[in-house]
Amino acid sequence: MAVQSVESSTTSAAAFGPAVALSCRECGERFDLGPIFACGSCFGPLEVAYDLPSGDPEGLRKQIEAGPDNIWRYAPLLPVPADVAALPSLSPGFTQLVKADRLARELGVTGELHVKDDSGNPTHSFKDRVVAIAVQAARTFGFTTLSCSSTGNLAGAVGAAAARAGFRSCVFIPHDLEAGKVVMAAVYGGELVGIEGNYDDVNRFCSELIGDPAGEGWGFVNVNLRPYYGEGSKTLAYEICEQLGWRLPDQIVIPIASGSQLTKIDKGLKELIKLGLVEDKPYKIFGAQAEGCSPVSTAFKAGHDVVRPQKPNTIAKSLAIGNPADGPYVLDIARRTGGAVEDVTDEQVVDAIKLLARTEGIFAETAGGVTVGVTKKLIEDGLLDPSLTTVVLNTGDGLKTLDAVAPTTGPSAIIRPTLDSFREAGLA
Ligand SMILES: Cc1ncc(COP(=O)(O)O)c(C=O)c1O
Ligand SMILES: [Zn+2]
Repeated sequence: MAVQSVESSTTSAAAFGPAVALSCRECGERFDLGPIFACGSCFGPLEVAYDLPSGDPEGLRKQIEAGPDNIWRYAPLLPVPADVAALPSLSPGFTQLVKADRLARELGVTGELHVKDDSGNPTHSFKDRVVAIAVQAARTFGFTTLSCSSTGNLAGAVGAAAARAGFRSCVFIPHDLEAGKVVMAAVYGGELVGIEGNYDDVNRFCSELIGDPAGEGWGFVNVNLRPYYGEGSKTLAYEICEQLGWRLPDQIVIPIASGSQLTKIDKGLKELIKLGLVEDKPYKIFGAQAEGCSPVSTAFKAGHDVVRPQKPNTIAKSLAIGNPADGPYVLDIARRTGGAVEDVTDEQVVDAIKLLARTEGIFAETAGGVTVGVTKKLIEDGLLDPSLTTVVLNTGDGLKTLDAVAPTTGPSAIIRPTLDSFREAGLA
């Protein structure tokens, strides 16, 4: 199904804004914008190709700055219609970029250190960004049920977005996730199915469901809508640069599950350079995993191009994808930009969650513990330059992974309601 022409359908052209086609990341073949995710010739993954507005960076910058305080300010760079902000959505994004001076001191960073805190999204993770774009595509393709395979956060984001936009939802998760994730995935009233298996089993099941009459007419945000879904992560790159005053950071530390987010942040940064919205200078991308699910960092450190699947065993359940779809692309990006992929133990994840909370007042989920822990390790190992401008991502909220810190976090004392008792506790 090669793309016929960009103007072949004016309705769909308007629905997808500047997007003109899907293109294969392996062989470059182009296809019409549709609910497809794999190349018909080589089975490579498809991504959205654009005809982006060029030639007037100052005008584009002004247009963006005059837009709403959410991801829709970047509509001119996304596969969405120009009036997307008027359609019902959770309107995620424009989360805080926190200048983390106290964390910087603890880590020995002498340059600028920032934490992009995506726990501030409507369902408390970065997944609201990717879902918002996928919902828009689902609307255009006429799907009425939204679905996904999820390590937890995505299920909640799909449930909430479906509720807001008036879709039915049915989402799939491994049966043994944290209570906070399960409740968040169920509370919005859609169907939630726990599968006896890990995420890779859930994902395989969803791929089968797509090909079955039982899944007909369903939009799986991270399967048949994956090319659109992925584009939502570009908004992290846009926001970081805009919030730095239209500057590229020198180094970014990003968590990896499937690797989609990392690859699309790189895509977003490259677009900003091409459009002249930021200066053209090098940046380094670092990937972060938990040791108990580290297929990409293992391949990186071994110098391999192929990512060998692992069976996950870590408290960082949101990142527990043993067979990451975008793993090889992550390796390419880390190597091309001069970055690295590193992992930390569960104990280091917990320590890093507490370090971030204690220094910056940000309570991260385990994925944020992974990025902060990896940042510390990369500095200690001399791989991340502490004198440069660094952005570390916190992609989710600690309230959803209380179990990770609860065993080692609690009241300093339990006392009787008397001053004597308080003094006895030694806290005065
Ligand atoms: C909180 C959080 N951070 C990061 C990720 C990684 O996302 P990706 O699959 O795009 O690598 C996930 C994935 O579920 C997540 O839930
Ligand atoms: Zn191909």
